[in-house]
Order: sequence, then structure tokens, then C-alpha cells
Amino acid sequence: MPKAIRVHEYGGPEVLRYEDVDVGEPGPGEVRLRHTAIGLNYADIHTRSGRYPLPHFPHVIGGEGCGVVEELGPSVTNVAVGDRVAYSSGGHALPRGSYCEQRVMNAERLVRLPDDIEDEIAAAMITKGLTAQYLIHDCHPVTETDTILVHSAAGGVGMIIAQWARTLGAHVIGVVSSDEKALFAAEHGCHDVIVSTEGNIAEQARALTEGEGVTAVFDAVGADTFEASLAALRPCGNLVAYGSSSGPVPPFDIFRLNEMGSLRITAGAFYWHLRTAKDVRTRARSLFDIVGSDAVSIRINQKYELENASDAHRAMESRATLGMTVLIP
Ligand SMILES: NC(=O)c1ccc[n+]([C@@H]2O[C@H](COP(=O)([O-])OP(=O)(O)OC[C@H]3O[C@@H](n4cnc5c(N)ncnc54)[C@H](OP(=O)(O)O)[C@@H]3O)[C@@H](O)[C@H]2O)c1
Repeated sequence: MPKAIRVHEYGGPEVLRYEDVDVGEPGPGEVRLRHTAIGLNYADIHTRSGRYPLPHFPHVIGGEGCGVVEELGPSVTNVAVGDRVAYSSGGHALPRGSYCEQRVMNAERLVRLPDDIEDEIAAAMITKGLTAQYLIHDCHPVTETDTILVHSAAGGVGMIIAQWARTLGAHVIGVVSSDEKALFAAEHGCHDVIVSTEGNIAEQARALTEGEGVTAVFDAVGADTFEASLAALRPCGNLVAYGSSSGPVPPFDIFRLNEMGSLRITAGAFYWHLRTAKDVRTRARSLFDIVGSDAVSIRINQKYELENASDAHRAMESRATLGMTVLIP
């Protein structure tokens, strides 16, 4: 029987169980997919811990993967048996279930991979890359007039934002938590890097911008960085808040944005920017093109066997990961 990582209850990495699962036959609009690689996302930790609720137990977690289509259900026309495909369920609005060797799933949001995108790269980047794509093109359309601050710049989404924004002409300042991560961020898009443990982030950002502050901040850390992100903005700047790795931002008086310089906050959510199969295809094309051009490099720094997914979770939660992490079934 195929294996999967399932949770039977919310909790720490120890609740991830490697088990036999019955995959079943594809129904109308569905395919059976054999995974070749699975991407690790911070959202998987939120799903495991219960912050992003699951509809039932036991449940296979995980939101992105790459594989080969092995069987088609009735009326599937967008993919064929043998196609190499990838998919993303984004943050938490769409069904989970990628931590497995095989699965049956809806075919609609699968994207066929170009020959120059390898399976592990596709699995590692599909959620993070589509996220970076909508954040820098829609939540804050980045141009050469921008000086941006990117939190977690040595992390999965952060390293793509930093590199891609640089190709659009922006000046990029990364924020990371260690010297090792600073080196990594400097090699992946950042002109300047702030080490968060070495002092006030907003003051360091202002020092790097002759006191002006930045035009936009991309922040998925949440609770720990929200105030610093606002304080780092210049007048009329835009805080793009798209996650909460450190916990949710406490309630906030919206009038403070007025007093702090007519600032904006934009909440980036994957689902609303990738609602249709057409949205997914269009944004994926843009991602494949930029990665295929080598302007954005997808660095897989950690690789785990699927059955050791709990070790991968421990590493990500303790901030020990650099760049991307994949699970290999
Ligand atoms: N809204 C959306 O559409 C969307 C889509 C995908 C992902 N996301 C969000 O984007 C964020 C990044 O996801 P990712 O998969 O690419 O993860 P990641 O950035 O590779 O890993 C998380 C990083 O967050 C930083 N961090 C800061 N405070 C932390 C804390 N208290 N605990 C743990 N880590 C902390 C760490 O970097 P340092 O050590 O350098 O601080 C850590 O490496 C997550 O919050 C995720 O939920 C949002």
C-alpha cells in the first residue's frame, strides 16, 4: 500500500505519522498522481498545530507537490497520463494532502511542467514562487523606484521575492536572524542585509536609506515584526503582510496608519490571487519563465525522506532552514 504522513490530532512534529493509506480510484475530474517530490511550507506547521484547521482526522497534510499523472478519471482534459505536473494548495483555503507517495486529486489546478524545470525545483517552489509572483506584481507592484524590505530573506518565499524584485530594478534590503543567513540572502537578491538580532530593524532600515525609510515591506513573520515593519516605511509606504510565522498580529487601531505617514497595509492571501485554473496557469507561466531564465535561483538546501517529515518540521520551526526544503517519497 502507498505511504503517507497523516495527523490524527493537532500537536508538535511527533503527531506526524508515516502510515499505509488507501488511495482509491480517480472519479470525474480527478487524476491519480505519483509524487516525485513534495515541498515544505511554513503553512504545513500551522496545519499540523491546528492554527489552520483541518476538516477531519486522520488527514494527510501538505500543500504542494510535483509528480507524474498515472491515471485519469472521466472528463479530465487538461493533463494526460505520463505528464509531469505540479500543484499548490496555497496557504489553507484549498484541500491539503501532498505528504504522500500517491494521491487522487482534482485535476483542475495541475500545471504541466516545462522540460527545463526539474521535479524537485517545481515541488520546492510552486507555492512559494506563485506567492512571490502575486505579492510583487499585485499586492505591491515593484518597480525600479522601490526600496523594499524583505523579512525572512533567506527563507523560501523571501529568497524568491528578493531575487525577483531585484530583476524589476528595486533596491532590496533583506532581514534575517543570523550571519550565515545574511550571507545566503546576499547571494540571493539582497543588496543589503539586516541581522535582526543585531539591533532595531526599523532603525537599521532607515540608516540604509539616508533616513527616508523603505517604500514597501514584505512581512510574513507577523507578531514579532509588525511594529518594526510600519516604522521602517517612508510616508505613503505599503506593508504587505502575508503570514505570521511568529504568531498573529494583535488588534490594531487603523487610524495609526494616518499618523505614521498615510501608510497602507495590504493583506496578501494566495487563494484570492489564484482563484481559478486560469490564474494558476498564467502566474505559473510567469514563474517558470523567470526561473528558467536563471534570474531567480531556487536553492534546495534541505532534503528529507518523506517518512522523516517530522525532522523537516523541527528544522523549519527552529529557524534552522535556509532556502527551500523538499520531502522525497
Ligand atoms: N499569504 C500567502 O499567500 C502565503 C503563501 C505561502 C507562504 N506564506 C507564509 O510565508 C511565510 C514563509 O513561508 P516559507 O514556507 O517560505 O517559510 P521560510 O521563510 O522558509 O521559513 C520561515 C522563516 O521565518 C523566520 N521566522 C521569523 N520568526 C520566526 C519564528 N518565531 N519562528 C519560526 N520562524 C521565524 C525564520 O527566518 P529568520 O531566522 O531569518 O528570521 C524562518 O526561517 C510563512 O509565514 C507562510 O505561512 C504565505
